Amino acid sequence: MEIFWELHADLPQQAPGSDALTAEVGPGRQTLVLARETEAQVFAIDLLPPFLEVLRERAESAGLSGRIRAQRMSMSDISFADASFDLIWSEGAIYNMGFLRGLRAWRRLLRPGGHIALTEACFLVPDPPDEVTEFWAESYAGMQDIDGCLASARVAGYRVVDHRVLPESAWWDGYYGPLLARSQALLGKYAGDRDAIAQIEQGILECELYRNHSASYGYVFYVLAAD
Ligand SMILES: C[S@@+](CC[C@H](N)C(=O)[O-])C[C@H]1O[C@@H](n2cnc3c(N)ncnc32)[C@H](O)[C@@H]1O
Repeated sequence: MEIFWELHADLPQQAPGSDALTAEVGPGRQTLVLARETEAQVFAIDLLPPFLEVLRERAESAGLSGRIRAQRMSMSDISFADASFDLIWSEGAIYNMGFLRGLRAWRRLLRPGGHIALTEACFLVPDPPDEVTEFWAESYAGMQDIDGCLASARVAGYRVVDHRVLPESAWWDGYYGPLLARSQALLGKYAGDRDAIAQIEQGILECELYRNHSASYGYVFYVLAAD
């Protein structure tokens, strides 16, 4: 966990995405952008307190703390009442529950006419190379292709409004680029610590896999309506 935090703390992002893309797909970018771009009250949840702490600090310095509430809560056990939200926004996170399971569980939280905007890693070709399927079988066994995700969304009770594949820059600019740079630095720092090195190298391999096979898989933005 310590290495995870040292690798990921204050990276610009914790998953592929970009301000421009989020603004284009919906009304704002994640918690800060959602608060900045709308007049909404935004509830942000995460399991890891340090991420919440960073968000609280950023909200404070952006003058947005009055409209952002950051709370430690599991996405699989959300304690808000039915129909509490107009919009659920979730980038690079639903895989923790699985796409269908997460969409089913969150459906009750939306008011009629509400929307959900989320990103999910998906296969982009029917027959990805073995290296890719082996990596993802290990990392996220439930990963589907786009048609599979669209079918899951409908099964979970949503209407599909839009979907689009994130550009490669959304992986590199704020996420894999900084993560690779930090990984190189930490390899030196942790030389001799086998567990730490293995964890850092796993991250580097993930970046290299994407560099070599970005045509085979990607992150996809889905906008779904709860009519
Ligand atoms: C890949 S990060 C994406 C974070 C952010 N949306 C972004 O794009 O930078 C996934 C996040 O999900 C959080 N997480 C993992 N399991 C969770 C759970 N059961 N409930 C709530 N958050 C969880 C992790 O702590 C992490 O912050």
